[in-house]
Amino acid sequence: MKTLFTLFVFLSFNKGFCTETHDQVLSITPTTQDQVDVVKNVSTQHEMALWQPASPEFIRAETDVHLFVPATSSQVVSELLLRHNVTHEVLLDNANELIEMQTKNDSTDPRSGSTFYERYHSLEDIYYWINRTTQDNPSRVKAVLIGSSFEKRPLYVLKLSVNTRSNKKAMWIDCGIHAREWISPAFCLWFVQNFLSFYGRNQDVTNILDNMDVYVLPVLNPDGYHFTWTTNRMWRKNRSFSRSSSCVGVDLNRNFDANWCTEGASHNPCSEIYCGAFPESEPETEAVANFLRSHKNSIQLYLSIHSYSQMLLFPFSCTTEQAENHDDLLEIAKEAAQKIQRHYRNHYKYGAGAKTIYLAPGGSDDWAYNLGIKYSFTFELQDRGRYGFLLPPSHISKACNEALIAVKTIAMKVIEKT
Ligand code: ARG
Ligand code: ZN
Repeated sequence: MKTLFTLFVFLSFNKGFCTETHDQVLSITPTTQDQVDVVKNVSTQHEMALWQPASPEFIRAETDVHLFVPATSSQVVSELLLRHNVTHEVLLDNANELIEMQTKNDSTDPRSGSTFYERYHSLEDIYYWINRTTQDNPSRVKAVLIGSSFEKRPLYVLKLSVNTRSNKKAMWIDCGIHAREWISPAFCLWFVQNFLSFYGRNQDVTNILDNMDVYVLPVLNPDGYHFTWTTNRMWRKNRSFSRSSSCVGVDLNRNFDANWCTEGASHNPCSEIYCGAFPESEPETEAVANFLRSHKNSIQLYLSIHSYSQMLLFPFSCTTEQAENHDDLLEIAKEAAQKIQRHYRNHYKYGAGAKTIYLAPGGSDDWAYNLGIKYSFTFELQDRGRYGFLLPPSHISKACNEALIAVKTIAMKVIEKT
């Protein structure tokens, strides 16, 4: 009897045995205000990670909430939701396995057919890749140090340039402003590789590089990205702290000087959308802003890459007012979305940020727009919530190729128009 009891205890506490003890991602749809409050409450509990929306204050009735629930809480959470009759389904029941799959670098496994660009890479690997890329393409790629992160990691921008025409235009792409959006840095690497190997072979790539220098910042938030590889896969913000709070991190996409910290951002350092102490308080924000300020005469196009939800957004996100060239931006975004639809049969929404998702002041796209870069877009890459931030490596190539066609379409349009 005693051994039976011991066995029972062993089974119920052993993580491998029952599904309740896996990290899960739930899709929750509250319908009443009471249910909204319940969901808001759960989502702020210890160790939960809200995937969608970015912060609990945006949780509304009839809108799906995506919530990462650690194994230790899954039982309690599902009981609570059942008790309050809240509709929910399990999106992912094996989040820990997915995370493990993504961090395992299987380059040495001869059975895996995937290339370097079809896997996710640690920050160390990305620094190494930056080095290699500049060494292998000395005439076309330079690494420019634009500043350093809070934890003093270097911020390198790759400058792709094939000629030195006078009055040369330029475009900017940054990736990895939000740490957990791993497909974003993967896209920047994909983009650079594609442009370098297809210059002279693909018409659009050739045309773009003949007319524009391209600045690529592969990881805008290296401290946060490193943290997602070592400690917490769900981290979003940077890793700065001060004496005034025990909470760590500023949302770098709320830290730019565009209606800074108005509705849609938070002064609370513990919030996922904390705007920081003042605009450009963060070294990462300041480095990017300084670089763009000093190159604003050449840079005509600003692109910032996020995930997930499949959207092509443009200003404004910091106000519901329309941008002065709204129709122009709308037409360009529409054409890019149609290209994706036609070539990859995948649907992307497009529109002004505030009207398409939510008010989100202090974003880099709005700031760049106000600086005078009138073609400014934020991409939200794959997917629409099936895997969310845990997009499997096998999806990288399609996610990047469809984003690439959108980038090319937009750049071609901008060359035409400017
Ligand atoms: N999901 C992104 C964020 O919350 C959207 C960015 C859109 N642009 C903006 N300026 N907020 O940061
Ligand atoms: Zn993001």
